[in-house]
Amino acid sequence: MPTLPLVPLPRRVAPTEAASPFPITSATTVSGDTDAAGTLAALLRTRTGLEPGATDDGDIVLSVDGGGGEPESYRLRVGADGIRIDGADAAGLFYGIHTLVQLIHGTDAGWIVPAAEIEDAPRFAYRGVMLDVARHFHDVDTVRAYIDRAAALKFNHLHLHLSDDQGWRLEIRSRPELTRAASATSVGGGPGGYYTQDDYRAIVAYAASRHMTVVPELDMPGHTHAVGIAHPELAENPVLDAVVSSAGPTPRADEPYTGIDVGFSSLRIGEDATYDFVADVFGELAELTPGPYLHFGGDEALGTSPEDFAAFVARASEIVRRTGKTPVAWHEAGAAPGLAPGTIGQYWSFVTPVDGADERARAFTRGGGRLILSPADAVYLDMKPHEDFPLGLTWARGATSVERAYRWEPSAVVDGLAEEDILGVEAPLWTETVATLEDIDALAFPRIAAAAEAAWSPATSDAADRTWESFRARTGGLGPLWATLGIRFPASPEIPWTT
Ligand code: ACM
Repeated sequence: MPTLPLVPLPRRVAPTEAASPFPITSATTVSGDTDAAGTLAALLRTRTGLEPGATDDGDIVLSVDGGGGEPESYRLRVGADGIRIDGADAAGLFYGIHTLVQLIHGTDAGWIVPAAEIEDAPRFAYRGVMLDVARHFHDVDTVRAYIDRAAALKFNHLHLHLSDDQGWRLEIRSRPELTRAASATSVGGGPGGYYTQDDYRAIVAYAASRHMTVVPELDMPGHTHAVGIAHPELAENPVLDAVVSSAGPTPRADEPYTGIDVGFSSLRIGEDATYDFVADVFGELAELTPGPYLHFGGDEALGTSPEDFAAFVARASEIVRRTGKTPVAWHEAGAAPGLAPGTIGQYWSFVTPVDGADERARAFTRGGGRLILSPADAVYLDMKPHEDFPLGLTWARGATSVERAYRWEPSAVVDGLAEEDILGVEAPLWTETVATLEDIDALAFPRIAAAAEAAWSPATSDAADRTWESFRARTGGLGPLWATLGIRFPASPEIPWTT
């Protein structure tokens, strides 16, 4: 069977080799769902330069079944006489269109789509990418571009890491000092920035138009040096020397932090004013956010005692829950006995857990919550792909090759979980070394495709083509499409790129 360049791997692909391909020409017409037709027309224009016509009875028919199929699923049939995509819902139709676009390729005789029949549906309901806009601020256009890249690989959640030691990046009307005093710088001392509430709404709307839900994070009680710049009364003194061995000078409480050490900041846990602050910022965030999740961080609170950390997590998770949203936290919060029931945990230890991270992750499921898996040595896109790559970090067991990013199985990371305990998979991109869209592309690609396959495709044991060799070949076939989409992906030597 020829390898079709499809990533993430669909549930079932039957290339009908005997059948002729479907040619895409200047006479090709599209009919059916108008939103989907607009999506397809824009992609066809970019990929082929051709402008499809609209008719009632097109060569390409796009339809939403509404017939009760699995959420986000679709069927795609390509024959010599035409193409038909049936989505179980609008998202499914959108994903079917992206599968079709991956199939289009140029030949001496023009653009063709190989004959095929595909039935596809996601393994996990939550398929996320995270962008850290705190270490370096990334403007709305950059976020839109990342949404387009991720949605094309069938990711459906965008987690925005909106606050950290280096800056607070979202306007909060009841707390104007946050952005006035603590948003103007970034790592290395470069310019910072923040989203107005209208900017944030524009991101949410753009994401929704690509079937992505925004998951905003305000990180607490550590990673809060910027909060202390705006509200000194809420923050403990920085404690870097005490907690970080290889650290630079201890940050000054009254100066913006532009380094990349972690773990030196903490909110004041015993003050009621701290929880008024938590209620204010998550209250506004809940009003701005149509999606179901609010992430309150909880990672690397090295400057907070375990008792204080547990007390904070109990109160903060309950404050978030009372907004009507589902709280999400990094796995460390699983150590807190009073974690609000139903809180979602985000696991970020390694594929083989260290330091009891798996036990903290399981604690979320005992409280009725589920887990998002982000094993750092596989899906942290900010790790260097090889040791001498100019961007990225190496703390997650050294550089992460494309092969290592691919070779892991979500059900095998945390022992004792049922498949239903796993909400999904998310690939974070931290931005200590990432300042531009070009930097984002250079680190995210092609490994983001491996994360997409972990999130969408059948388990490694359940599909013959869910292998590194197949993935390499399929990803290599996407090079021409990625290039026409303007993605500046590095030509990783691990992938046999089609030119
Ligand atoms: C993390 O990487 N500190 C969640």
